[in-house]
Amino acid sequence: MATTTTRIVLSLSLYKVTFMSSSFFLLLLLLLLLHLQTHLVLGDANGLKTCGFDRIYQFGDSMSDTGNLVRESAVGANTSFARLPYGQTFFHNATGRCSDGRLMIDFFAMAAGLPFLDPYLNTDGDFRHGANFAVASSTALPVEVLANKNILTMYTNSSLSVQLNWMSTHFYSIFHAEEDYGDKLKNSLFMLGETGGNDYNYAFVQGKTNAEVKSMVPEVVQAIVDAVRKVIHYGAVRVVVPGNFPIGCFPIYLTIFQTNDSTAYDEHHCLKQFNEFTMYHNNHLQQAIEELKRQYPNAIIVYGDYYNAFWWLLRCARHLGFDANSIQKACCGIGGDYKFSLIDGCGDPEVKVCPNLNQHISWDGVHLTQQTYMTLAG
Ligand SMILES: *[C@@H]1O[C@H](CO)[C@@H](O)[C@H](O)[C@H]1NC(C)=O
Ligand SMILES: *[C@@H]1O[C@H](CO)[C@@H](O)[C@H](O)[C@H]1NC(C)=O
Ligand SMILES: *[C@@H]1O[C@H](CO)[C@@H](O)[C@H](O)[C@H]1NC(C)=O
Repeated sequence: MATTTTRIVLSLSLYKVTFMSSSFFLLLLLLLLLHLQTHLVLGDANGLKTCGFDRIYQFGDSMSDTGNLVRESAVGANTSFARLPYGQTFFHNATGRCSDGRLMIDFFAMAAGLPFLDPYLNTDGDFRHGANFAVASSTALPVEVLANKNILTMYTNSSLSVQLNWMSTHFYSIFHAEEDYGDKLKNSLFMLGETGGNDYNYAFVQGKTNAEVKSMVPEVVQAIVDAVRKVIHYGAVRVVVPGNFPIGCFPIYLTIFQTNDSTAYDEHHCLKQFNEFTMYHNNHLQQAIEELKRQYPNAIIVYGDYYNAFWWLLRCARHLGFDANSIQKACCGIGGDYKFSLIDGCGDPEVKVCPNLNQHISWDGVHLTQQTYMTLAG
């Protein structure tokens, strides 16, 4: 682990390329711990346990939910995420994670020497090492704001602001009425996302034009910025704000927006329009983060470059052990070129899991396999 990290930090210093490596999470943690700037070279990384994070707080959607949606309501409990084959790998049981197994946040917690984060809505949860407020299907913008744009949300109303309210309630319950939790939170890691992806997913799938969805970006980014401000005001000093994945490479987008126009696809056969859109969001987010860094010089705020991490994974897919013929096919899915259908999804009785699960990038056409999350997390 130390060698890999050292190599990455070295290459970082040479090329000023952030996180285009399998171990970008390790690097994130190191940046957070050591206030590393891109010109610094690190020689003595001994793994994440030395980072001394004592708690992790996660916000976001299905990329990070470890069991909130399936506990939240009858609607959530009835989603396929509450059933096998979700969770078949590692857990051998559905946990509410939207994957066959562990998510990036699980590998992240493991690397930090902490237990898996319990979902906040687990009444038996152990929250001494943090809590997971992420809810699958949730949005960055409140559902009413989206409803005003005629964008319907599904399964949950627990958008980012609701998750932040849960955090306030939670901190009040564990720290009581103290004014400032800064001393308690100085070794905590706050993961603000990925979030916002669903705001756009719902909009695109419901027929909004590219221009209409682009016009939502400043608002979505503002919601994320407000969330960063809120956690910092509670005392957070180490915050990771991830961007979004290149959604134009995901089976759901490739299926719904399939076209015979070959110029619509890039060299990895991803839909350019949607990857460009994600970059547009990510660029706005990065600019906003730069501004936050100026406003809060005492906090360490790091952008998590999921986009380029995924791009690296695509580029090196074969080398990393993924099946070249299945790169854009869902493992758990049926139908069409990408083995994805909006009608028959993973979790439906007729939908089977592929035999070579660990060689698939996409689990169900929307979410990634444990193997992918593990590779991305390093
Ligand atoms: C549960 O989901 C099934 C389809 O997957 C649907 O027919 C049923 O109405 C749902 N029940 C509830 C309580 O939402
Ligand atoms: C979301 O809120 C609306 C309005 O209060 C309510 O009707 C709906 O049942 C809620 N949805 C869920 C999934 O909780
Ligand atoms: C692509 O072309 C084929 C053959 O001409 C046609 O059947 C199909 O509907 C087209 N697909 C789309 C998405 O336009």
